[in-house]
Amino acid sequence: MPSLDDSTRGRILFGGDYNPEQWPEETWQEDVRLMKRAGVNSVTLGVFSWATIEPRPGAREFGWLDRLMDLMHANGIGVVLATPTSSPPPWMGSRHPETLPRDEQGQTVWWGSRQQFCASSPTYRAYAAAITEDLAARYAGHPALTMWHINNEYCTHCWCDETARHFRRWLRTKYGALDALNEAWGTAFWSQRYDAWEEIIPPRRAQYMRNPAHTLDFKRFTSDALMECYIAERDIVARHTPHIPVTTNFMPLWSGQDAWRWAEQEDVVSVDIYPDPKDPLGGQYNAMLGDMTRSQARGPWVVMEQAAGAVNWRGVNHPKPPGLNRLWSLQSVAHGADAVCYFQWRQSRQGAEKFHSGMLTHAGEDGRTFKETSRIGSELARLSPHVAGSRISADIAVLHDWGSWWAGQQDGRLSTQLDYTEVVRAWHRALWESGRTTDFAHPEHDLTGYRLVVVPHLYLLTDAAIDNLLSYVRGGGTLVCGFLTGVADEDDRVRAGGMDARLRELLGIGTVHEWWPLDADESVECEGFLGTLWSEEFEPAGGEVVAAYRGGELDGLPAVVRNGRAWYVSTLPESDALRALLGRIADDAGAAPVLAGLPGGVEAVRRGELLFLLNHSREAVTVQVPGSHQELLTGERVSAGLTLERYGVAVLSRTTP
Ligand code: GLA
Repeated sequence: MPSLDDSTRGRILFGGDYNPEQWPEETWQEDVRLMKRAGVNSVTLGVFSWATIEPRPGAREFGWLDRLMDLMHANGIGVVLATPTSSPPPWMGSRHPETLPRDEQGQTVWWGSRQQFCASSPTYRAYAAAITEDLAARYAGHPALTMWHINNEYCTHCWCDETARHFRRWLRTKYGALDALNEAWGTAFWSQRYDAWEEIIPPRRAQYMRNPAHTLDFKRFTSDALMECYIAERDIVARHTPHIPVTTNFMPLWSGQDAWRWAEQEDVVSVDIYPDPKDPLGGQYNAMLGDMTRSQARGPWVVMEQAAGAVNWRGVNHPKPPGLNRLWSLQSVAHGADAVCYFQWRQSRQGAEKFHSGMLTHAGEDGRTFKETSRIGSELARLSPHVAGSRISADIAVLHDWGSWWAGQQDGRLSTQLDYTEVVRAWHRALWESGRTTDFAHPEHDLTGYRLVVVPHLYLLTDAAIDNLLSYVRGGGTLVCGFLTGVADEDDRVRAGGMDARLRELLGIGTVHEWWPLDADESVECEGFLGTLWSEEFEPAGGEVVAAYRGGELDGLPAVVRNGRAWYVSTLPESDALRALLGRIADDAGAAPVLAGLPGGVEAVRRGELLFLLNHSREAVTVQVPGSHQELLTGERVSAGLTLERYGVAVLSRTTP
């Protein structure tokens, strides 16, 4: 099977989405000149080119793309070639309205923007397969081609009648018999029992709360339906070019795709990352998405898109201050990326994204952004021989599962304040701030290599996942579970006692009598810290109470319980407290920080033989590093102290022990 190495060939890829159909051909020459100046070695072509390639049904206009592929090759720039299938041309919706998605209210999602396709539509699929086939046949032997990029950020959901038929087929495969479906969905409640498969529809707008097991299966189905589209195109390009790796770019921590399952279908895992430059914890967010994508890839991965400056889809869109683009780019490399790419190469002058930054902005080649772009390009070239292909090892895994996320965010839940991604982020932040590198893992993955496994909040755990956690702890691992974990089974059925009995026994806690969610501005006092978001009413059963609730209705009941190497944290401790708690547990488990005694805001990551030091603060800091090193970006020797400027980065290679 091809891998990312087949595209990188020992280099870190640097470049971005290139949408040259927006520009006259003279501009392409200018683009190439500036790409070379910036150190660009890879561009992604064709992402939104369907209407240019197929202006009317069955037509093929490949001449412009031929010229571009040749131009790139002549200038030593590789091409990640996209199938253009994420954005059907207007003629498709106009001639084949059944290809247009319908929303939950039954409203048509029209053309005029992008990504308006129904994944279940045979007509859409036939056109997508045909253009993919022709694209793959035409460019299979082209020397510029380094990777296939299928579609773009698969995200379109649909509730139409064709989707309903497809959903029913998916359900028949899953359940076999209608009785099994009725049982799994608990349709005896509220007179929802189905008497024929044809009665089942996608969970459309309804009078009141919808059946959560139904909507959970629909989310699983939608992720699978989109993945079928991906696989169909992947198989076409792979038939033409078995040696060229295939990817599709994920939106990170996005609820619509179960990325664990998707990643298994990719040669290369790639992701689009857009931290908010105004977010003081943007660096932690970038680290978290890097850790997650690396874990899905089980090795080096690709930043397929990021922004050199501002995006234009937030309420208020802030530019990146000087140095931040470089910091986050090198941070992604530290976390295992072998490609740093952007949306998009040249900032648009027209269309919906004309205020979204590019590597080359409206300010042109003398602009600040382009200068920083060029600096990053030359630094990545310098780092490439030392970094590309190297790996990261982590002692800690954070467990994350789309199924649990989906199940926990349904109608009828106890608190709408509970945002799954924010809880995961809070736990990752605690570990990141305590200087520890973490992987992510699915609850059914093999966890035996980790010293510490943390479960921020997995409301739904399958029996297999519970077996896995039990045998992990029995085998010597340390486990910390956050609140509202192990509550529901695979079908979103609440387990007796409020949490799976075997898990309760492992954690040393008794029946959960009540869940006590907290309001947004509320906190609960616990011994030594404040809890937020959530609290729970239960008694210990064999476990040692590490901290009890103080005052209020839960006074004296356990907030944090420890049973040997298994811990339960029934609230979300404030950030300092969670960091201290997890730091202590990690120390006991032998999961040490990468480098002790770092100043606040400085992150250390070890990748292969290299030590990356990243200063996320706006002040210069001095860091003590034991041993002698060479700093690879400047070539300087470092022994003892090292100063990192605001947003500064050092990449150290050890010269003496
Ligand atoms: C996504 C898309 C791009 C572009 C960017 C803007 O990542 O894939 O086409 O719209 O968002 O941030």
